[in-house]
Amino acid sequence: MHVLVTGGAGFIGSHTAVALLERGHRVTIVDDFENSSPVVIDRIEQITGRRPELAQVDLLDEAAFDAVFAAAAPDAVIHFAGLKAVGESAADPLRYYAHNLGSTFSLLKAMKKHGTRTLVFSSSATVYGDGQQPPYTEDGGQLDATNPYGMTKVMLERILGDVATAEPDWHIALLRYFNPIGAHESGLIGEDPGGIPNNLAPFILQVAVGRRAEVSIYGDDYPTADGTGERDYIHVMDLAEGHVAALEQLPEVDGSRAWNLGTGSGTSVKQLIAAFAEASGRPIPSRVVPRRAGDLPRSWADTTRASVELGWKATRGIAEMARDGWRWQLQNPNGFAGEKAD
Ligand code: WQD
Repeated sequence: MHVLVTGGAGFIGSHTAVALLERGHRVTIVDDFENSSPVVIDRIEQITGRRPELAQVDLLDEAAFDAVFAAAAPDAVIHFAGLKAVGESAADPLRYYAHNLGSTFSLLKAMKKHGTRTLVFSSSATVYGDGQQPPYTEDGGQLDATNPYGMTKVMLERILGDVATAEPDWHIALLRYFNPIGAHESGLIGEDPGGIPNNLAPFILQVAVGRRAEVSIYGDDYPTADGTGERDYIHVMDLAEGHVAALEQLPEVDGSRAWNLGTGSGTSVKQLIAAFAEASGRPIPSRVVPRRAGDLPRSWADTTRASVELGWKATRGIAEMARDGWRWQLQNPNGFAGEKAD
């Protein structure tokens, strides 16, 4: 298939582009490089031997994006583009609602106009809010979110569901990611957050490589095995392969349907720090600080539906995630900064 990948130069988008190309699909990446680097396109080519097509355009520029879409005429779309920092969304909710909803409306208008009805949407386990207990099941109850970023995902899942109900010829996958970490085994692409990392894994890696002094552990008084927060960390390549599995299954799916992409098990903050210390052979100093507002004690997926309906299961464990993440960080101590695109 010819797949248009919005936000395809980002962390999950780039790894998914690699998985798509290696499956023989044609890939057009749409990215404005606001939160990513053009170097990623060269790295994808280095890994796969195939260069994805590229359209550098802002989805919010509807006319420009429509022209790109018409020229590409893709069979399907995977939609990653969007703002995704929880804390930032709480500080500037209007920017998050306008951007994440507006860019998706622009995409849906172009898809409708040009007759592309197959869509994989990047959702998040954050839609489970704090109303359920893990393992989270896709139909386990009312979706909710504890922050504006998460609420954009709740809203967009509802909007896409309504579109698919009104027009059953749509085939829409709502993929709820748990905590993606790690990197492609080549070490050529990986997570490259600008500024101070919000998420645990990239922060640990920046301590291990010497860019930061210590990891702040946000609370060790949770009702968990060692008192620190437990999450379902999933290797980004497992996540990428889950997207390909969903895309290839979608023609059989009428309407919209949600699938969890996780491993089904939880790992604590302290356990993850230990895994990266083991993989890197570096000391990773840490200090317990007060809890972060909005954090849940634990979160992990029920993986049954994706396994049964997509024939997909995560196969890589925490040690492999730490090893691959460390290789990326060691080979790219400053991420893509300072690298020149071809
Ligand atoms: C993991 C654990 C923290 C940082 C978020 C978003 C979610 C998705 C993934 C976009 C928690 C603890 C963290 C640190 C710490 N993002 N922690 N010190 O919060 O599970 O999920 O990122 O889709 O939508 O909500 O991930 O990595 O921020 O936190 O102790 O410096 O690590 O308390 O227990 P989270 P995280």
